Parts: sequence; structure tokens; C-alpha cells
Amino acid sequence: PPNRTSPALMLYRAALMHTPSSPFEAPGALHTEADGALLVRDGQIVASGPYHDLRATCPDAPVTDLRGGVLLPGFIDTHVHYPQVRVLGGLGMPLLDWLDHNTLPEEGRLAEAAYARAVAGEFLQGLRTNGTTTALVFGSHFAGAMDEFFAEAQASGLRIVAGQVVSDRLLRPELHTTPAQAYAEGHTLIRRWHGQGRLRYAVTPRFSLSASEGLLESCAALMGDFPGITMTSHINENRREIEVVRGLFPGARDYLDTYERAGLVGARTVLAHSVHPSDRELDVMAGRGCAVAHCPCSNSALGSGVFPLRRHLTAGVQVALGTDVGAGSGFSMLKEGLQASFMQQLLGEEGITLGAEHLLYLATRAGAQALGLEATTGDFTPSKAFDAVYLQPDQGSTLDTVLRHAGSPEQALAALFTLGTQADVARVWVVGDEVYSRQKSSTSLAT
Ligand code: GUN
Ligand code: ZN
Repeated sequence: PPNRTSPALMLYRAALMHTPSSPFEAPGALHTEADGALLVRDGQIVASGPYHDLRATCPDAPVTDLRGGVLLPGFIDTHVHYPQVRVLGGLGMPLLDWLDHNTLPEEGRLAEAAYARAVAGEFLQGLRTNGTTTALVFGSHFAGAMDEFFAEAQASGLRIVAGQVVSDRLLRPELHTTPAQAYAEGHTLIRRWHGQGRLRYAVTPRFSLSASEGLLESCAALMGDFPGITMTSHINENRREIEVVRGLFPGARDYLDTYERAGLVGARTVLAHSVHPSDRELDVMAGRGCAVAHCPCSNSALGSGVFPLRRHLTAGVQVALGTDVGAGSGFSMLKEGLQASFMQQLLGEEGITLGAEHLLYLATRAGAQALGLEATTGDFTPSKAFDAVYLQPDQGSTLDTVLRHAGSPEQALAALFTLGTQADVARVWVVGDEVYSRQKSSTSLAT
């Protein structure tokens, strides 16, 4: 990207925390170094460990001193809508009313390129200032708005998987396409943007409610043309939505089957929500290796329901986290993790107690796995890209106070998820490029 700033060699000194393995599978997944270091060469991590050990092996490397905060792998948001940043805060509606009254009118405005460009800038700013380094982004219905978005995304330096959203019924006429147009525009966008730098393409039917069988088949045709491409959509979010889909696809066994019959369910499939799945749907999702983007803030805001995490994990379905901006409550993956934990508590015996290590895993490594990027990002093991977020609370803030008194790394990490906000995100890197640095605004002006 044009803002490439990655130094050839750098030793980053910080308190480190990451989850190179799943805490749902075995204890001890959280790795921490109180005074740790990462040696980064050309954007890749080449060594990690205690600072003094690494320093001894490379006494001449320049050091970036990040003591006083915590360095985490960059967050990975597996479900977030680019055209919805300006409709954040629409409270008190269930899904179908929220779509009609809140977001779809706004999504129509992205027909205008200048409007789309402005929204793209605001959206990417939201991601990076919250420490998100990789995102699977639900795009706009307009191909022109996707060109604007991909251009801005490339300039941002973020790792972005995104695609044009397609629908051909039940939304608003200006948001509708046809199978032939969807295929043609998707083909052009993929050839132009997929694999350019850190960008990748995702075939994105909005949801079965707004897609004919023919449209879903045109999506599958694109996937056939470009192996390795991602597919993303929504599933089983809201009971009314599920009823409407059942009526629209009388031959389908269930919601997943509407995608399955079109050939859209595989290892590169990421489905958002899955609040009300059947056992058959869970078994098929597990067997095909697809992933679910769990969006607890959105599920709460729209009253969609409480995510059955235990059933997903028991069936063997991969689960990661998404903010679902704008039905969710913002870009913070820390808040998303906290809300996930809260909602599992609401389930009582049927819930899974989520500790800080589970939240970090869901917000980083699990997302990398869901997107097929686990060899590249998601934790700090050597050979991964240096994709990182440095959280450094203001002195005297409640988070600062709690961190100072934390008795263990787990307690410190739990404090970060409970109290951390956008204000605590101090610096963010992708492949060693600094994509965000907090500017301290002066609070008292000299008079
Ligand atoms: N289902 C179809 N479109 C949307 C959307 O924009 N947000 C959410 N939460 N669910 C959807
Ligand atoms: Zn969504």
C-alpha cells in the first residue's frame, strides 16, 4: 500500500498476550510474556520470547519500546457491513423492521460514488481505530460503491475480504440485481481486486430471503470460476426471517439447505448469526468446514436471541466473532467479546463460561481460521505477519487502575475486555506497517 512504513528489522518490546491454540480444546492456550518481545523482519515475526533473551540474540536491532500497555494480535472481525456505519444506534427494532426502516434506505444512497467513498473512509477508520487488522466485510449492492471501497481499503493497509452484496427480491427496487448482472459485476470486481495486496473477494448474497434460486446459483458460478474465493451470508438470525425463508423455499429442508442446494456451503463459507440452527444444519456446517460469525451485540440489539455456542462447539462448527455494524453497537471487538461472555452467562447451564482467554481467541485466532488465514495472522508465533494492536490506557482511567492491580495475566486480559475501548487503542500494525497511531488531542488549551 502507499503508506508502507514497515521497517526492515524491529524488536517490539511489550507485555504480550496471544492464543496460538484453542482454549476450547485444551487449557493453557493463553501465552503471555510480562516483558516480552517480537523480532519482526520485513513485516513477519521471526522470533518471540522474553525481551532480554531476544535482545541478547540481536543486540543491534532497533527497539520500539511499548512498555506500559499490552500488545495483542490485531483483531479479526468476521462480520461487519461497510454501508451501515452511519446507521449505528438504531435501537429497539427486530431484524426485518430494522432493515426496512433503518439500513436499507441508507444503503440506497451508496448508488452515488462520492457518498460511497465518504462512507468507505469512515468505515475503514472505524476498523483501524478499534484495533481491527483483518475483516470480512459485507459490501454495498452497487458495483461502483465496491470500487470506491476497495480503493480506500487498499490505501488503508488493512487486510480486507469483501464483496458486492447481491439481492433480487423483497428489499427495495434500487437494491435489486439479476443473476446475470450479479455474475457479470462480480466477475469484473474479482478480476480487478481479488489478490491485490491485502485484498480478497467474498461472494455475498445478502440472505436467502432476498435471493432467488437463480441468484444463489449465479453466486456459485462465480465461486466455480475462482477457486479459493470466500462466500459469506446470513443464516437463522430471527424467527420471523426464518419463517419467510421457509415459505420462499418450499423444497428446502431448512435455511442452510437454501445455500447448500446452490453449492454455496464449503470450507470457505462464513455464515453470520446462526442463532436458531437445527441439529442437521450444525452437522452439515461442521462436516463442510464452514464457519459461523457470532455477533452478540447485534443479537442483543435486534432481540434476535441468545447464540447456542455450546451446540456449535459440540457439533464441531468453527465459531469466530463479528461486530455486525450497523445492527451491532460499534467496531470494538473488545466489547463484542464482553457481550459474548455476558450472553453465555444468561444461558446458565446451557451456556459456556467464557474467560478472557476464550474472548481473545474468538477475537483473533478463531477469526483467522474462519477466513482461512491462520497461516498468516491471528497470533504471534514466528512466520506470522506482524498484525498487532497496542492497548495503552490513559493514566488514571479505570482500566489503568485495574491493570495496575491485576494479580495475573488472565485478570489483566479480562480487564481489557471489560473496560477497554477505542480510546485505549494506541497503535495498530498490519504486516509491520503502522496503520494507526493515536494522536493525543490536547485537552487544555493555553490561554
Ligand atoms: N440479514 C440480511 N441483511 C442483514 C443486515 O444488514 N444485518 C443483519 N443483522 N442481518 C441481516
Ligand atoms: Zn450482518
